[in-house]
Amino acid sequence: MISARLAIDPHFVVGPINRRLFGSFVEHLGRCVYNGIYEPSHPDADEDGFRRDVIALVRELGVTTVRYPGGNFVSGYRWEDGIGPREKRPRRLDLAWHSTETNEIGLDEFVKWLKKVDCELMYAVNLGTRGVQEALDVLEYANIRSGTTLSDLRVANGAVEPYNIRMWCLGNEMDGPWQLGHGTPYEYGRLAVKTARAMRQIDPTLELVVCGSSNAQMPLFANWERVVLEETYDEVDYISCHAYYEPRDGDYESFLASAVNMDRFIDSIVATADHVKAVRDSKKTINISFDEWNVWYYSRYAEVDRITGIDDWPVAPRLLEDAYSVVDAVVVGSLLISLLRHADRVTSASLAQLVNVIAPIMTEPGGPAWRQTTFFPFALTSRLARGVTLKPKLESPTYNTALYGEVGVVDAVATHDASTGDTAVFMVNRSLTEAVELVVDVSSLGQVQVVDAQTLHDDDIHAKNTLDAQERVRPKPNTSHSISDGTMRITLPPVSWTAVVLR
Ligand code: AHR
Repeated sequence: MISARLAIDPHFVVGPINRRLFGSFVEHLGRCVYNGIYEPSHPDADEDGFRRDVIALVRELGVTTVRYPGGNFVSGYRWEDGIGPREKRPRRLDLAWHSTETNEIGLDEFVKWLKKVDCELMYAVNLGTRGVQEALDVLEYANIRSGTTLSDLRVANGAVEPYNIRMWCLGNEMDGPWQLGHGTPYEYGRLAVKTARAMRQIDPTLELVVCGSSNAQMPLFANWERVVLEETYDEVDYISCHAYYEPRDGDYESFLASAVNMDRFIDSIVATADHVKAVRDSKKTINISFDEWNVWYYSRYAEVDRITGIDDWPVAPRLLEDAYSVVDAVVVGSLLISLLRHADRVTSASLAQLVNVIAPIMTEPGGPAWRQTTFFPFALTSRLARGVTLKPKLESPTYNTALYGEVGVVDAVATHDASTGDTAVFMVNRSLTEAVELVVDVSSLGQVQVVDAQTLHDDDIHAKNTLDAQERVRPKPNTSHSISDGTMRITLPPVSWTAVVLR
């Protein structure tokens, strides 16, 4: 068995962990909203048509913030279609996903659902086919108490209290040629800054997110961010990052090292934002909203799922319904390690998405809801990663990958909660064949013991939870740990993700 070493010291801190790091994303896409969170004919639907079983799973997942209503969808969306009497709401073409949007669910219903799952709303405005005025309109409708036509309309629609939405995304993936309204970084930067200034005339305390790159392989990567931030720096608070990973041509070595790409992505965008800060001699720091990240079998969507026919505009089709395996969950766990490692600059993030669409929660119409494999690392990390991230000192053997060169077999991060004294350690073993003994120096923590140790692993790395086998994969207690003389030892099986709590 190979071994790796980790040292934990609560005095060396990266930064506080913002609870918004455990956000997710609900887009009007496929069966995320319709026949996902909302299914009025389901036996477990509540008085508003929302599935109670889904609500319970979302709460168990530990999601804090939800980005809504898109995604690519938002760039063609008219928010006012989704308010008022349902029978009068228009049916529209959704060009992003080649579907029909019935508008049965809109802002008012979604805010109702968010209360049930106890999450904050992060709202995206359409800067694809629309602009400043429509962003102002939805802000007025949502956040002004009363006394104007739009705010009174919200009250008339049943919501007396304003929604007080704090975080607003200024469009979505405007660097992508697939995006309605896509343009140059300068064109987008101008539109974004005009929108931001106007929105701040209503409320200067809003937290505004400007669009960064759709992935680190985009041709303008980092230049896009530089130009956009040169135009918007003083008016925005966050730059967004998006990244999805999938194994290509069976290259699981590289796939398991996806967090290396996420680390470099974050470091590059932090450097770019700080470059603009330096040039402007600004006192303000722009942080990152990593508001779309996940494993996504994009090639399956592109080759099999994509709808194109001129007469084919289905309502809530099955789209992007990836079934996740153990190896996918290990990658999701390692991406969470990367986000935590950057807690000083990544202060908001959204697992894309939440239900049915590249999601940790799946549902069957009229049937059950269940946890995908990726549910577990997210739920455990959200529950256990409290307080601050500690500066990791890690020594690991390496292996070679086609995409990222030499990569550590083990990756790990630790968090510490001064209010409880608990320290949590999150670890992955990326080896396809070898177990690793991780030797952790915990002497700086004083007298501690392991109070919980859970490992996600299966001899079949392709094992999944499906409609027919909903409980096939779940984390199991890892009983291999021991502590003596300030050293903890634990065995990490090949292709595994582990969380340990020291108290
Ligand atoms: O999450 C699926 C899609 O991925 C989103 O709509 C878009 O923003 C991204 O390209």
